[in-house]
Amino acid sequence: MKKSIKDFDLNNKKVIIRCDFNVPIINEEISDDNRIIESLKTIKYAIDNNAKVILMSHLSKINSEEDKKNKSLGIVRDKLNNLLGKNILFSKDTRGAKLERIINNMKNKDVLLIENTRFEDYPENRESSNDEELSKYWASLGDIFINDAFGTLHRAHASNYGIGTYLPNGIGFLVEEELKKLSVLDNPDKPYVVILGGAKIKDKIKLIEKLIKKADKILIGGGMAYTFLKAQGYNIGNSICDDDSIAFSKKMIDKYSQKIVLPVDNKVTKKFEDTEENIIVNSDCIPDGYMGLDIGPKTIKIFENELKKAKTVFWNGTLGYSEFNNYSQGTKEILDYLSKLGIITILGGGDTVSASNKFGYKDKFTHESTGGGATLKLIAGEKMPSLEIIDELES
Ligand code: 3PG
Repeated sequence: MKKSIKDFDLNNKKVIIRCDFNVPIINEEISDDNRIIESLKTIKYAIDNNAKVILMSHLSKINSEEDKKNKSLGIVRDKLNNLLGKNILFSKDTRGAKLERIINNMKNKDVLLIENTRFEDYPENRESSNDEELSKYWASLGDIFINDAFGTLHRAHASNYGIGTYLPNGIGFLVEEELKKLSVLDNPDKPYVVILGGAKIKDKIKLIEKLIKKADKILIGGGMAYTFLKAQGYNIGNSICDDDSIAFSKKMIDKYSQKIVLPVDNKVTKKFEDTEENIIVNSDCIPDGYMGLDIGPKTIKIFENELKKAKTVFWNGTLGYSEFNNYSQGTKEILDYLSKLGIITILGGGDTVSASNKFGYKDKFTHESTGGGATLKLIAGEKMPSLEIIDELES
């Protein structure tokens, strides 16, 4: 069993809590604050136990100075101010004298949020490469490290793996809760159906080989589907595709043809925008110049038919580009269908859970995980480096 925040005396200690505040921001507003809400229990516990609370998180990816302008955690600080009903300190610097001064002046129960850890990724890739000097520096700012960023447990970055290496450490309540809830998928009630979608194809596609050993069916939709359709020899027009994964997809289809269910029809359009100018076409007839942005009605029925037989469902990745109203129908209808089945249903992934919340299905399922790639890797039995470095509780 891993050490947790409860196993430490936090009184008067500088406690660094790594959160996952990687939230969607649309028109300069947080469109889904679920990850922030779920982090509050650990933060409040640290405040109540008289710690000096230092919060760290990444937000999106940072590849330029321009990114830094749009991806500041300032917006999360404002949200935390409201949610915690107190003034949260904010450091625009991720290192240096100003940051150290703020920390040195902190009193017990004060909360500081440090700017986006991935600002250290530009111009040098220091956070994501787990730079040793940066890890040691950040660790030097605190006395105890608590990892509550479930969504990044599969990463070995300076702000989670690195700091954890150099400080007494434990997990927070969010991570503890996620591990407990997701353990139902260790031995799922059968039939067990996995729904896989979304556009992070490269990140996820190889996990299919592991997931498929336990799952009875894998329903593939969203951006993920087109690589598989292309692997079957179909023209996919301008649909999103990972050409490097075509051979792998073909191997999977050949080996697991009874288990993999692909879309038979798609809603396709010419422009990547929320337009009603679209047509429904069968998967073998996507015209040149068109891209698939949603599954079609026949596919929805086929997926529902598979889900009807399931006792356990795990879903990661939306089935269309659900940020666009015109391409959210597949995701919406499957959410609705699942919400009425009354079976064990676990949603994993920022986008999947955001879509579920947006369309009115919050708290309608067994568990809505805050992790995306992390959840998928955990249930596929992959290594979770930032969890592995957390100390075990001595018995
Ligand atoms: C997520 O959104 O899945 C987590 O915050 C991890 O983000 P990342 O894929 O950018 O590391």
